[in-house]
Amino acid sequence: MIVDGNDPKQIAQAAQCVARGELVGLPTETVYGLGADAMQDAAVAGIYAAKGRPADHPLIVHVIDAQAARHFAHDVPAFAQRLMDAFWPGPLTLILPRRPGVATACAAQQDSIGLRCPSHPVARALLKACAQTTPAVLGIAAPSANRFGRISPTTAAHVAQDLGDALLVLDGGPCEVGIESTIVDCTRGVPVLLRPGAITGAQIESACGLSLADSAPGGQAAPRASGTLEAHYAPRASVHLLEAAELARLSPAHGVAVYARRLPQHLPHQFAGDRLAPWRRMPDDAALAAHELFAVLRELDAAGVTDILVERPPADAAWDGVRDRLQRAAAASLHLPDGGAAPPNR
Ligand code: TXA
Ligand code: MG
Repeated sequence: MIVDGNDPKQIAQAAQCVARGELVGLPTETVYGLGADAMQDAAVAGIYAAKGRPADHPLIVHVIDAQAARHFAHDVPAFAQRLMDAFWPGPLTLILPRRPGVATACAAQQDSIGLRCPSHPVARALLKACAQTTPAVLGIAAPSANRFGRISPTTAAHVAQDLGDALLVLDGGPCEVGIESTIVDCTRGVPVLLRPGAITGAQIESACGLSLADSAPGGQAAPRASGTLEAHYAPRASVHLLEAAELARLSPAHGVAVYARRLPQHLPHQFAGDRLAPWRRMPDDAALAAHELFAVLRELDAAGVTDILVERPPADAAWDGVRDRLQRAAAASLHLPDGGAAPPNR
């Protein structure tokens, strides 16, 4: 059931649900989350079940401020504190040493914990109301509110489509950022970028005064992060990343959708109004592209195409988050059993 997240009564009710150990869908500035009390193991188990998420993928815990983060993390290094000061509340998740025995169900056997302080007013209102329940809920565990391996939701309707109408979802409008938070591992003495997002590597480095170390994907020190699986964020149709020049050479085909910054000249009139071959223009601005990315992929997917051809985003750092999600969507399309039909010419 989708309810108005700006209505204080709905917030109070959602906080009661969380306190009782139930799940709620909540908006954040990045994507919608599927939330539960981080301290109630059974509630957290419900998140894994609802998402179909493997038990060894840890969850992010959302907190109202840096002080609340200390309930979950001990030994916050100075550079992590500088990142909190610079970017919280906002789209940044920090992996920190976990207090022993705390939020164990969220941690998936890691001795660390992912913490994030969201800026979305509805998420903040819910966190505040949760802190006032008895006993107080100090953190909301919330992965993205999608089935495991699929596209993150950026509207309340997306959440209901993925997880069903029975779930209480606070509607806070479309998410402003549109892709998941930047994740920085702060447990290795130096900051390590685990997932690119709206806050760029350069911003991280300048705020904490340290260079980012390379995360070795799959390397020994690398904790498991589902956002770092090669195949992730998949629509049902196959996604293919193409250079603008390659796209320009293609002739329109039924069952193929296009998402590109410069649409091949033949597209606008040949494809316009043709529901079998929809196209959307990718914004030139990276933040705008991130904002709409998942909604556009869902929309093109829902048109029933077998293939979505996407122009490769620019190489510069502002596009790191969008490029990362598109590469994973393209990788996933090749591997998922329901990833759609083979692309043309293959
Ligand atoms: O923007 C976001 O971060 C959204 C909103 C809802 O806050 N949440 C989100 O959660 O994207 P999820 O579960 O879809 O992705 C969380 C990522 C996963 O890749 C997970 O493996 C990683 O964070 N993660 C969580 N705890 C971790 C830990 N202790 N060590 C390493 N990675 C961790
Ligand atoms: Mg996710």
